[in-house]
Amino acid sequence: MGIVDNVIREKLHSHVVLIRQISEYIINSGGKRLRPALVILSAGAFGYKGKFHYNLAAVIEFIHTATLLHDDVVDESKLRRNKETANALFGNAASVLVGDFLYSRAFQMMVEVDNMRVMQVLADATNTIAEGEVLQLLNCRDPDVTEENYLRVIRFKTAKLFEAASRLGAILGNASPEEERAMAIYGMHLGTAFQLIDDVLDYSSTSEDIGKNLGDDLAEGKPTLPLIHAMRVGTPEQAAVIRKAIEDGGKDGFEPILKVIQQTAALEYARKCAGTEIGTAVSAISALPDSENKKCLLQLADFSVTRNH
Ligand code: IPE
Ligand code: IPE
Ligand code: MG
Ligand code: MG
Repeated sequence: MGIVDNVIREKLHSHVVLIRQISEYIINSGGKRLRPALVILSAGAFGYKGKFHYNLAAVIEFIHTATLLHDDVVDESKLRRNKETANALFGNAASVLVGDFLYSRAFQMMVEVDNMRVMQVLADATNTIAEGEVLQLLNCRDPDVTEENYLRVIRFKTAKLFEAASRLGAILGNASPEEERAMAIYGMHLGTAFQLIDDVLDYSSTSEDIGKNLGDDLAEGKPTLPLIHAMRVGTPEQAAVIRKAIEDGGKDGFEPILKVIQQTAALEYARKCAGTEIGTAVSAISALPDSENKKCLLQLADFSVTRNH
């Protein structure tokens, strides 16, 4: 991961000062670096001995960072990684444009690997993420969004990049088609669980722990699983409270919403769904030969549902 960090730093270079300022600002504020770790671990699990996994790990982190820059503009978020968001500090226009810079830098870097399968996977993932974010935009302030529809959004906007990261290591390591598929399934379910927990933490963590403001989802009128479940099992009165909060957006209704979420055990339900996803992820890679890398992949699966940050 130290080498990946060096690649990231080196490749952030631009002659345009504002690009360096903003990209270094968000990259230096840290982040868990989960997706690049997936590339490294999956390549290692298949005995890959070259150096392209470092570049592809950086590519994945650049794509992730670009989506965050754009996402915080769309979500009007003010805090990320325990710091002011780039949009709060530098403005929406600069954030969007530097996000574009990072996307296109990622494309330059993936071409250097000169492997058509790699480019296919990354092009498809990037395109799917964009679809997911737009689908989610359409769902905002709509209390009738179904659990199925919600799951589709999170598979697209989040899980697809986890899937790509896990698959890329397998491709580099010349895995068999079945092994590549197993890694893709692992990544997809891991990413789904990861976003389910992210949506739980938005109602139950502290802003210090997640490095973001709580209630950002509600403010956007985002019908995430805790709210969908609360409306489904709650009394008509409880459901009405949630419906109105989704329709209105904003953070005013946060306290009453929290109460209904508690009364309907909605966070427990969402955590249970995340647990099921992780079970599927873990069993997908059960046939891989035992190795330190595989052990880490399993630990990472565990972390993504037990995490509080
Ligand atoms: C944030 O992802 C966006 C989601 C998909 C929930 P992470 O929680 O991995 O963000 P960082 O990179 O660690 O800050
Ligand atoms: C993040 O979705 C997904 C992408 C960046 C594509 P969220 O909006 O739920 O993530 P946070 O909570 O802002 O990190
Ligand atoms: Mg967001
Ligand atoms: Mg969120």
